[in-house]
Amino acid sequence: MCTGNALNDSSGLVYVPSAIPPMPRIGDTAPDFKAVTTHGELQFREWQGGKWTLLFSHPADFTPVCSTELTELAKRTAEFEALGVKLIGVSIDSIHSHLAWVENLEQILDVRLPFPLIADTDKRVSEAYGMIHPGESSTVTVRTLFFIDPKATIRAIIYYPLNVGRNVDEILRVALALQTADQNGVACPVNWQKGDKVIVPPPKSEKEVAARKALTGVERLDFYLIKKSL
Ligand code: BEZ
Repeated sequence: MCTGNALNDSSGLVYVPSAIPPMPRIGDTAPDFKAVTTHGELQFREWQGGKWTLLFSHPADFTPVCSTELTELAKRTAEFEALGVKLIGVSIDSIHSHLAWVENLEQILDVRLPFPLIADTDKRVSEAYGMIHPGESSTVTVRTLFFIDPKATIRAIIYYPLNVGRNVDEILRVALALQTADQNGVACPVNWQKGDKVIVPPPKSEKEVAARKALTGVERLDFYLIKKSL
């Protein structure tokens, strides 16, 4: 049954179709967009230039937690550069607000943001990436992080609420873990850090079980749980 915008199925569940696109998920192609940023207008895919990219949203300019997060990301830019990861931020503030905040952060915290901030006043980017979570706030983006690989595939997504700042060590760890997994055909276990052993992917056939049994120089806990050093 259809009543106005709401659809009722036979179980009584009500679905309200929305004009907002579905949130992109891990494995999806990162939506492309054109945007006004503190570094000028850009086409996202072109700007990525086939590099690993971290697209992150912050709720609003001139707010305390966001100020600590963005300046910490700025201070650690060299560590992202060492991994070949480009950073780009987004909020639904205007370009004028972004420009003023960038100046203010330099004045009060002595940190210049080296990455662009997208002025998403029409919410096109925020909505394409599902960055507005109405249960938390219908007026600002929550703290999201999209790890996008050189082929423009979303590889990891992290969400934080408005009142908890992100952990830059964890962001760097996820970026390195994704790259390590890709480069070596392995997986990274709980709390993995650079230099730790990695996981040999579990077998998917009897042939692969036999191959794993034949592996030498590895830490074998069982046929499906094998660790090795890189
Ligand atoms: C903050 O960054 O401090 C903040 C932003 C939006 C809502 C609450 C806190």
